[in-house]
Amino acid sequence: MNEATSPPRIIQGGMGIGVSHWKLARAVSRLGHLGVVSGTAVDTVFVRRLQDGDPGGHMRRAMRQFPIRDVCESVLAQYYLPLGARGATPYKLLPLYRRVVGRAREQTTILANFVEVWLAKEGHNGVVGINLLTKVQMPNLASLYGAMLAGVDYVLMGAGIPRDIPAVLDALAEHRAAELKLDVEGPADSATEQLLFVPRAHERNDWRVLKRPRFIPIVSASSLATTLARKASGSVEGFVVEGPTAGGHNAPPRGAPSFSAEGEPLYGDRDIVDLGRIRELGLPFWLAGGCGTPEGLRSALAAGAAGVQVGTLFAYCDESGLDAGIKRGVLAGLVTGGVRVRTDARASPTGYPFKVVHADGLERQDDERVRHCDLGYLRTAYRTPAGTLGYRCASEPVDQYVSKGGNIADTAGRRCLCNGLTANIGQAQIRGTSVELPLLTSGDDLVSLQCFARGREHYSAADVVGFIDSGAPVVVQG
Ligand SMILES: Cc1cc2nc3c(=O)[nH]c(=O)nc-3n(C[C@H](O)[C@H](O)[C@H](O)COP(=O)(O)O)c2cc1C
Repeated sequence: MNEATSPPRIIQGGMGIGVSHWKLARAVSRLGHLGVVSGTAVDTVFVRRLQDGDPGGHMRRAMRQFPIRDVCESVLAQYYLPLGARGATPYKLLPLYRRVVGRAREQTTILANFVEVWLAKEGHNGVVGINLLTKVQMPNLASLYGAMLAGVDYVLMGAGIPRDIPAVLDALAEHRAAELKLDVEGPADSATEQLLFVPRAHERNDWRVLKRPRFIPIVSASSLATTLARKASGSVEGFVVEGPTAGGHNAPPRGAPSFSAEGEPLYGDRDIVDLGRIRELGLPFWLAGGCGTPEGLRSALAAGAAGVQVGTLFAYCDESGLDAGIKRGVLAGLVTGGVRVRTDARASPTGYPFKVVHADGLERQDDERVRHCDLGYLRTAYRTPAGTLGYRCASEPVDQYVSKGGNIADTAGRRCLCNGLTANIGQAQIRGTSVELPLLTSGDDLVSLQCFARGREHYSAADVVGFIDSGAPVVVQG
């Protein structure tokens, strides 16, 4: 793909935690489309890979290219264990993120994002993107800088309004300090807080200007796209327009909430994005959510889109980070009809609806889980009565949440996405005699994946791309 002239036709959607890891993004990128790594919690994924012995030596190979030197030695000393040496010991944890973290913690985040993008880009000229959640605010500046040090080509961000990000990318490209407003729950008149990242606080020799990646916000309404196109802090280079059938988090329905008999949020006409207004913005856009078919691509192109962003189909391919047993179990369950996807209005502590896969034989995190909050990526900042900042998550132990001023009603039905999603990729934390259970997410279209898989026990990213791209118009040369 020629990056300068043609936008990608297929974007492999960012899938956290660690589902769209470097191997998947690299495979898609090498096929001439946009492979996207997930930067969400990738620092935890990275130190867990090191504790699992770094099979293949990939982490350590990429670390040797990292321009901020000292951190690599200390990270290896703290987290690297030879293959098998961890045994049944729980994973060692990184310190939880807060508004201000120590230099070593910040550098680990820069490093982990660097490694993921560097590996995804290794050995080919294709383009690679990184996906971050706007709502996971505190690590995002360091994550972006790490990805940019590795030459990331695109930044894709949803789950919030990433209005400040374009100026952040402009600043980081020149190694200038960058700021983001930190959302703080509490009295409306309490002082706002900023997140600050200063690249020059991290010693290195080379301060050449970095490539400023293209910025593609992920939106679910034309009004948001319009705001971002006109009033963001700098340039926006396109949009992913995502519908409520997509995997992961969904935007809540517009208007008064209503629910199905099974308790799933109901979407209506007001949730259909006005593509006419998106087209008027004159920027490339991609449609996401149940678009991973030849017909999906054809109709997106006919609607004026540059192509489609696809998640679910890629999540179960050979190169994805999902645990191999989970992939096999779900693909087998599709054949027998034992799989369904539920839009859970309560599961995510963010308050956004979250798609949860229910599959026969697949153990899943539920209300029985003993709550632990030891990864903390979805913690939000709040103002304590003393005026300082505290951090809480509606999925943490209920008494702790309440003692921090949280409303007990917020805790009902919440799942620990941090621990559930890391379990999905074979990095479940050990808790005494038990382990954290998975919490699998996919788009509504998972159940029709069978039409593509046709009973196959596995398939590759190239199979997915070949299938979807067969919907592209044939270009007759000359
Ligand atoms: C397993 C999984 C994890 C996902 N995680 C994220 C994420 O971390 N950030 C994000 O913006 N979108 C996430 N998504 C959404 C995808 O990037 C993509 O937009 C969506 O899956 C497209 O719809 P489809 O699943 O019907 O193809 C996730 C989707 C899946 C299936």
